[in-house]
Amino acid sequence: MADGLIVVQHPVLEDRLATLRDEATPHGVFRGALNEASAILAIEATRDLPTVQRAIQTPLEPAEARKLEAPIIIVPVLRAGLGMVEGFLRLLADARVGHLGLQRDEDTLEPTGYFERLPPGMGESYVFLLDPMLATGGSAVAALARLKANGARRLRLICLVAAPEGVEAVREAHPDVPIWTAALDRQLDEHGYIRPGLGDAGDRVFGTTG
Ligand code: PRP
Ligand code: URA
Repeated sequence: MADGLIVVQHPVLEDRLATLRDEATPHGVFRGALNEASAILAIEATRDLPTVQRAIQTPLEPAEARKLEAPIIIVPVLRAGLGMVEGFLRLLADARVGHLGLQRDEDTLEPTGYFERLPPGMGESYVFLLDPMLATGGSAVAALARLKANGARRLRLICLVAAPEGVEAVREAHPDVPIWTAALDRQLDEHGYIRPGLGDAGDRVFGTTG
């Protein structure tokens, strides 16, 4: 396994991934499975976040408890990353949410940015970039560069299905950014699709094909 790559192993995650890969899965079920898979990824990708001790009052007596030390920002890459937001917010309800719009050209496979709205506090926060598909890695490399240009330092990339080519591209361009994924697939095909993959994630989340 590549350095800085965490392939999350969890039986429920495997089950949801099977649903997501299945071409017969309708888009409503796809959305639900993506959110549930994202909640599991959120648990795994926050496992080592630092906490600080705080004095609290239970209904019965004063107690010491631990709270997350730093604020959290999640940034979905439009469109498909939007399908991961609800799962993350189930666990991290206080997180601020930024948005990055990137569209991959179908011929050149190069991403073009079309939208950017990021919350304040990027430098102090743990910033989770959400995109279910890491294919050539072009979109993730560009998105991480935009987040760094806006001050982000503590970055994590969360995806669902990664191709070896995409992992390598991100590790080379952003060696400081660890990657969590539910699956490391075999390869990219000649059209830049991940094999076996799950097809076009954005279209499947939003029902824009078929
Ligand atoms: C898909 C996917 C990633 C990107 C991955 O988005 O959601 O953002 O492609 O490919 P890459 O690693 O080769 O850059 P797409 O650009 O198709 O936009 P969409 O989510 O709006 O469909
Ligand atoms: N984007 C997708 O949605 N799926 C792929 O397989 C590759 C890029």
